[in-house]
Amino acid sequence: MSGAMAPRAWYTSDASALDLSGDWKFRWSPRADAPLDFTRRGFDDSGWAMLPVPSHWQLHGYGAPAYTNIRYPFPVDPPRVPTDNPTGDYRVAFTVPPSWRGQRIVLRFDGVDSCARVWLNGAEIGVMSGSRLPAEFDVTGALGWDGREFLAVRVHQWSSGSYLEDQDMWWLSGIFRRVTLTARPAGGIDDYFLHADYDHATGGGTLTVETQVPARVTVPELGIDAPAGQAIPVAKVEPWSAELPRLYDAELATGAERIPLRIGFRRVAIDGGLLRVNGRRILLRGVNRHEFHPDHGRAVTAATMLDDVLLMKRHNINAVRTSHYPPDPRFLDLCDAYGLYVVDECDLETHGFFPPEGTIPGNPADEPAWREELVHRMRRMVERDKNHPSIIMWSLGNESGSGRNLGAMAAWARRRDPARPLHYERDATFRDVDVYSLMYPTHRQVELIGQHKEEPLDDPELDARRRAMPFIMCEYGHAMGNGPGGLSEYQEMFDAYPRCQGGFIWEWIDHGLRVAAPGGEYFGYGGDFGEPLHDGNFVADGLLFPDRTPSPGLLEYKKVIEPVRISGAGEALRIDNRHDFADLSYLRFDWSVEDEGVELAAGQLKVPGIAPGESATVPLPEIPAVRGEAWLTVRAVLAQDTPWAAAGHEVGWGQLQVEEGAKQRPVLMTTKDSPERAVASPGSVPGPAGPEIRLGPGVFSAADGRLTRLGGIDVEGPRLDVWRAPIDNDRAFSRDANELAWRRLGLHRMQHRIDEVTVGPDELTVRTRVAPAATDLGLYAAYQWTACGDTLRLTVEVTPDGDWKLPLPRLGLRMSLPGAFQYVEWFGLGPGEAYRDSRRAARVGRFRATVDELQTPYVFPQENGNRAGVRWLTLRDDTGAGLAVAGEPVIDVTARRWTSEALDAARHPVDLRPEERIWLNLDHAQNGLGSASCGPGVLPAYRLSAVPATFTVAFRLVG
Ligand code: GAL
Repeated sequence: MSGAMAPRAWYTSDASALDLSGDWKFRWSPRADAPLDFTRRGFDDSGWAMLPVPSHWQLHGYGAPAYTNIRYPFPVDPPRVPTDNPTGDYRVAFTVPPSWRGQRIVLRFDGVDSCARVWLNGAEIGVMSGSRLPAEFDVTGALGWDGREFLAVRVHQWSSGSYLEDQDMWWLSGIFRRVTLTARPAGGIDDYFLHADYDHATGGGTLTVETQVPARVTVPELGIDAPAGQAIPVAKVEPWSAELPRLYDAELATGAERIPLRIGFRRVAIDGGLLRVNGRRILLRGVNRHEFHPDHGRAVTAATMLDDVLLMKRHNINAVRTSHYPPDPRFLDLCDAYGLYVVDECDLETHGFFPPEGTIPGNPADEPAWREELVHRMRRMVERDKNHPSIIMWSLGNESGSGRNLGAMAAWARRRDPARPLHYERDATFRDVDVYSLMYPTHRQVELIGQHKEEPLDDPELDARRRAMPFIMCEYGHAMGNGPGGLSEYQEMFDAYPRCQGGFIWEWIDHGLRVAAPGGEYFGYGGDFGEPLHDGNFVADGLLFPDRTPSPGLLEYKKVIEPVRISGAGEALRIDNRHDFADLSYLRFDWSVEDEGVELAAGQLKVPGIAPGESATVPLPEIPAVRGEAWLTVRAVLAQDTPWAAAGHEVGWGQLQVEEGAKQRPVLMTTKDSPERAVASPGSVPGPAGPEIRLGPGVFSAADGRLTRLGGIDVEGPRLDVWRAPIDNDRAFSRDANELAWRRLGLHRMQHRIDEVTVGPDELTVRTRVAPAATDLGLYAAYQWTACGDTLRLTVEVTPDGDWKLPLPRLGLRMSLPGAFQYVEWFGLGPGEAYRDSRRAARVGRFRATVDELQTPYVFPQENGNRAGVRWLTLRDDTGAGLAVAGEPVIDVTARRWTSEALDAARHPVDLRPEERIWLNLDHAQNGLGSASCGPGVLPAYRLSAVPATFTVAFRLVG
């Protein structure tokens, strides 16, 4: 940096400002040494292109995006950078209103990736780096005041700062945040530090606003009108928290400038080993948020920021870690207003010094030469953001090893802002910070930490210090592809151990960049843009798809962290208020009773006011008489509109089974049928392709016992299936690299051998052995078919042969039907996909979807769309005719227009071409999801071991 002004608070005031965003003249060069003539006023830029500011040039056709997670995409030789250093030259002309004359004029860049040199009217103004940090220049002396001022900026993709900016994200360059020009009035405020403390013991507050010039603070609602700089006691004040984000409108003013303030009184403290806000232990239900948009990269608009905040609030999220850099400052205003706790993280990551191949010496976090730069980055963040009540902690950065410079950053921040705790994860001693933070620990590790039984540090003093700290997970629940599984088990730890105060899911959104291709658009990931070195789809690991559609993982997280829990308690309902501050008076409790998924009765429950942390029992509503399987559902919804969602928005829910229902599924009975209908005997008849066996509605090949038709519907299968298109959590880079072991064994190419087809008096039995080539491991599968009236029933008995050490991907049946049977209805868990270890968000009910709608378009195609706990389903064509399938008692169901093999082979969803058939998987079970793509694998309870198993499904024609 050179020529820049001292860091100060970001704020808007009545001082005049000019947003310079818009289309600027642009020239891109592959190297850094293009002539500097463009900085002159009279330079002819008529041949230049236009580029929007803010934006990343790679997303406008200059160079290409590149994705690496840990590794630097250039040789590590700090502070030097490649000669091939893509460079963008910018020019813009603007007019300064004549009324600004006499004031100090400040040019502000909110974010330029990665470094820039600035000229105004040919005069060099300064140099800046620190991509996600602001830089301000006093340009008063360089203005021409002639109605046409020429700003020229040269931006380089690589700079010494790139060594500090190795975050796991796209390398994207340019002026990607706003550029503004402000007139600083003489006697203006320039900077202030607002302290609004809340004392939970008295309910009072203290307001102090530090300024460098004499100013007045007015808070009309509190009757405050006092000089800045002194501590103003407030006898009673409503505190700010993420749940109740009470802000007081106020003003800080001098004769020359008025700054509107929004004051949130609150106190953050670590006390008694707990992280507390306003005296109470809080639970962080958080996410890691990168700034991302599929078309604009990190150049996010105010609308996108608001989308994020609204989506978070609507999914019960209460905290954001700004991974791994300070966000656009406007985002923090939204967090204050809507209520989100923020861990504001400095723009620092030197992960590339720790590649998998081994540590590279010279980590900037420890090298004296980098000290000043690191401290300055911390200073720039803290000064910019210090006035936000939403920020409850400062984070020194991410994955930068350990080192003295981190200590220096911490020391500076502590001096400047003693009221906020510090966070940093990568130094195991936690000597410089206030919270014990880990990423991706196992459930067991979390449990031990909860019990204060973590592995000790060598140094007893540091160990004692860490042992007394609250524990958070700055990253957990790696949301890559299908998953994460095991979230509710973490939540149980947070409930059981006060020290475990929650954490932040990695991460909020998939960073897939939209690509238009002949076959349709898709979201590109590492390697899609010609990068020689990249980390593939590891960049797509969020709870939102790139277009901000919530993924099943987000719905699961919403349910797991719901702040109101509704459960059965004998003959009553129990309602737990799991908020830290809010009572439940803002919710309405709607109930309904469904018989086989059909609503019979509904109403509203009377729920007494329940204080935070408390619970109450409420009598059950009157349950009408039911015939089948019946459930009472209670939904806690917003009683009134809030700023973040409309009345009726669901916050939490619970279900209670009120009637088990008959064993025989109603879908298998025709109206005049009784469950005890005539048992059919298999009969042999000649068929078009040889002798056939008929049993109830089923027609089988006599040669190998395969079902070929169900009534008039031509089917293939069902036969045993163990394969799933590996999910990201199965893949080679995972902690549990199941995929490698599965493919090595050959589970994706099983062979089916028919050992015996026997026709008994009332059954058809087909004995098989299903196994891959080149191994003696296998599975015996016996299919036993019986028929009862028009229902065909199949019981499968699976017996593993050999010593299976691997979990199976899935165990079930696969069959196919003509593509016309695309309208699906089911009674079971829904409406979304669910798996063994990720099924909290699914409720029992009756749901409808087309086969196409059952697909979840993960950025990297993989197993998806499983509907769990299905009691029965129907697949019908346009006329309403089709097939009913029932689990006895339940099955998991996946239906799609392509095979698992096609899904496995696809690299983007556009590779998947619908075929003429529908493939239906009827599963006894699938292996859990886990989060091994970066974290622990499937918990033992959800592992699908190869053990003997028996399951039954029944088929009947409908319509
Ligand atoms: C963490 C890192 C994140 C991200 C994640 C994996 O180690 O802090 O930035 O890389 O792993 O997706």
